[in-house]
This record gives sequence, C-alpha cells and structure tokens, in this order.
Amino acid sequence: MSEPSLRLGVLASGRGSNFAAILDAIDAGDCDAEVAILVSDRPTAQALVRAAAHAIPTAVVRPADYPDRVQYDLQVVERLRAAGVQLVVLAGYMRIVTPTFLACFPGRVINIHPALLPAFPGLHAQRQALAYGVKVTGCTVHVVDEGVDSGPILLQRAVAVEEDDTEESLSARILVEEHKLYPEAIRRIARGEILLDGRPRRAQEVG
Ligand code: GRF
Repeated sequence: MSEPSLRLGVLASGRGSNFAAILDAIDAGDCDAEVAILVSDRPTAQALVRAAAHAIPTAVVRPADYPDRVQYDLQVVERLRAAGVQLVVLAGYMRIVTPTFLACFPGRVINIHPALLPAFPGLHAQRQALAYGVKVTGCTVHVVDEGVDSGPILLQRAVAVEEDDTEESLSARILVEEHKLYPEAIRRIARGEILLDGRPRRAQEVG
C-alpha cells in the first residue's frame, strides 16, 4: 500500500503566488502532498481566494482577537492540528512565529525567503541586495527556527542581478525561481530525500 501524501498547512498573509505554485505542482502530480488547510492572519489575503478556487479549507485567525502572540499562535496550532497537518509551510506569512508555535511542530516548519541566506534576512531582501550591490542573489527554502530567516538551509537557487534591475524587476525574476524551488523542497521532503530534524544539512552529511 502506498504512503498517504504529506499533509501541508500553509500560512499566508497576502498574494499567495507561492501557495499557488505549490497547488499547481500537487495538481500536476509532481508533489506527493496535499494542502489540508490554508490559514491567514488577514481576511483580505488573495491566498484565501486561491484556496477557495481549489476547494481547500481555510481559516482566518485575526491577531486582534487574541491578547498576545502566544495565544494567537496556539489558536493557529489548533487549526493546523485539527486538519492533521504534518508540515507547516510559511508562504508570505508576515508574522514571526513564537517558540511556542515551533515547539508544537518541532523541525516541521519551513519558509521561503527571496535572498541567498544568510545574506539579506528580514524585510525587503531584494532592495537590500540591490543596495549592497551584489551581482548574484536568489531564494532560499529553510527550516524555521526562533530567529528571523535564520534556520537550517534546505535548498537555494541563484539569480543574477542585472545592471538595470529595479526592486520590481529583480523581485519578479526571483519569484519565478521561488515558484520552482518551494514545490521542489516539498517534493523532496515528501519523498524523504530531505530530512527535517532541525539539524543543519552539513551536520547530517558528516554525522
Ligand atoms: C515571497 O517573495 C516570499 O519569498 C516572501 O514573501 C513573498 C510572498 O509572495 N517570504 P507570495 O505571497 O507567495 O506571492
């Protein structure tokens, strides 16, 4: 009997183009996973519309309805657990998850960032790359830890910076690569080719 597919819980705050790329990969049979639930902190997130179009269950959990970040995160955890989520996928989620959240899904929360970490963590990574003057940037899929964009790196893809790049043009080219990289990471996690035990990849290789 074949293994059941990996149950994903996607957290998104906005546009949701990475979420859409993951859905496309699943629909194309490229990724042995299913999105069990899409959770958003913002009722206006375009990601919610995309989920509805795919008949994927959604939940909006509004930060203003909770006294603090921990209570908020525990509510999100409850939604994810009720949906049987095995892997939490942050896709343009504009909140920093608490240690409480991470403890509920140890080593099972991943994120995509539009730079080659550890360069340019945090907001406006593409703007930071242009301001620094790097000739190559890209995107990174990493395990989420308690820092900002600081967890173990799983996959990266490079993107050349052009002379006349603007933040918009560079962001658009990085996004094209993000849309390949995130489904690729999930595919490899689902196949057991990438292990998520919270240790850096290099430590796994040597140890
Ligand atoms: C992406 O650039 C991602 O790397 C960053 O937030 C953006 C989300 O875009 N974390 P989208 O909502 O997936 O279109």
